[in-house]
Amino acid sequence: AHTTVGIVGGGPAGLLLARQLHLAGIDCVVLEARDRTYVEHRQRAGILEQGTVDALRACGAADRLDREGLIHDGIELRWNRRSHRIDFPALTGGRRVWVYAQTEVVKDLIALQLTDGPPLLFEAEVTAVTGAETDRPVIHYTHEGIRRTLTCDYVVGCDGFHGVVRSAIPATELRTAERTYPYSWFGILANVPPSCDELIYAHSPRGFALHSMRTPTVSRLYLQVPNGTDPDSWSDTQIWDELQSRFAIDSDWKLTPGPITQRAVLPMRSFVTEPMRYGRVLLAGDAAHIVPPTGAKGLNLAAADVIVLARAFADWTATGTTAGLDAYSGTCLKRVWRAEHFSWFMTTTLHTTPDQSAFDTHLQLSQLDRIASSPHAAAELAENYAGLPVG
Ligand code: FAD
Ligand code: DHB
Repeated sequence: AHTTVGIVGGGPAGLLLARQLHLAGIDCVVLEARDRTYVEHRQRAGILEQGTVDALRACGAADRLDREGLIHDGIELRWNRRSHRIDFPALTGGRRVWVYAQTEVVKDLIALQLTDGPPLLFEAEVTAVTGAETDRPVIHYTHEGIRRTLTCDYVVGCDGFHGVVRSAIPATELRTAERTYPYSWFGILANVPPSCDELIYAHSPRGFALHSMRTPTVSRLYLQVPNGTDPDSWSDTQIWDELQSRFAIDSDWKLTPGPITQRAVLPMRSFVTEPMRYGRVLLAGDAAHIVPPTGAKGLNLAAADVIVLARAFADWTATGTTAGLDAYSGTCLKRVWRAEHFSWFMTTTLHTTPDQSAFDTHLQLSQLDRIASSPHAAAELAENYAGLPVG
């Protein structure tokens, strides 16, 4: 079999790319290793930037997002038992973000793809991609127990951090830059209305905590914990008590506990692969780069990559030019490194390291005080959080 663009991975990057290519009249196939239920219920990101929302709208995938998504015009920062609000529209010339879970974005894109879209195969595990340097790269995969191949004009690896497409690029052609962090996030989902209207990012002597949400009746919260923490080693009461004490401020604000329906511990990492293209193989999203979650950039970066890539493929099919494809890696990496810096900044400003000194703590608190007292410092945070322009 042959297709123009072979897409490996049916996460947000692969599905959004497929949708955009289909609307541009470009033939493509998506191969996804896991089953539909698994992909639709994998609990991950929750914040969409304007650029991501615009792209979903432009490809007709935003009907439910526009009905059910929660528009947020700011976040709250807490430290030293005080609270400070960052007002996004006021500081960025009108930008805002949407609370709409990655699970819902993926469900909406899959539903569209299955009714009006190019082929999307679940339980199709890609084992290798060969011929990156030829003009007919080949995807090798297994579907329903049968080994198959798909010949393509181009292959796009949207297969996440643990994907296989990156290894189709010779190691001598790739540079990677990486950082790990000495803490993880313990994330819970709870059937209780959020105790806040906007997200709360808290610095505390006991470590970082984040209050997020999924819907008006479902809360999503995170606690900084040591690497290797077993999520089942904490009782529900311990979790709520620890969250309450990390969010505590000098007011009568209270966190309302509720039934916890999911719990997981996530390690944190920064990772960038350069370049994001070799021959006729391109990488997009987590396959090419990872950020620690503080700042909510992962899903939005994945979307930005495929927005740039879809335009490049549209130019190539319309006029035969490869200028956009040739510029893809450089264009994306500029934005990727900005998000890498912002995510590292948010992470290291708000978390406490196991060997934290008084000096380190003073620098963090001084930075947070600066954000609260200078509109310039606040605007720098707001612009990055609400999202820089795509392209
Ligand atoms: P993915 O969503 O990882 O999709 C890759 C797809 O490829 C998967 O469906 C996978 O099954 C498939 N695949 C992999 N290998 C193969 C193969 N060999 N053959 C076929 N298919 C394959 N971001 C935030 O902003 N906030 C968060 O709270 C947050 N939490 C996260 C929690 C976890 C555990 C993880 C891993 C990430 C989290 N992120 C978060 C980041 C965000 O979810 C990712 O940046 C986003 O999912 C990237 O989308 P993607 O399509 O590039 O990759
Ligand atoms: C969520 C995750 C983040 O990393 C973040 O910065 C904000 C919200 C979330 O899962 O809701």
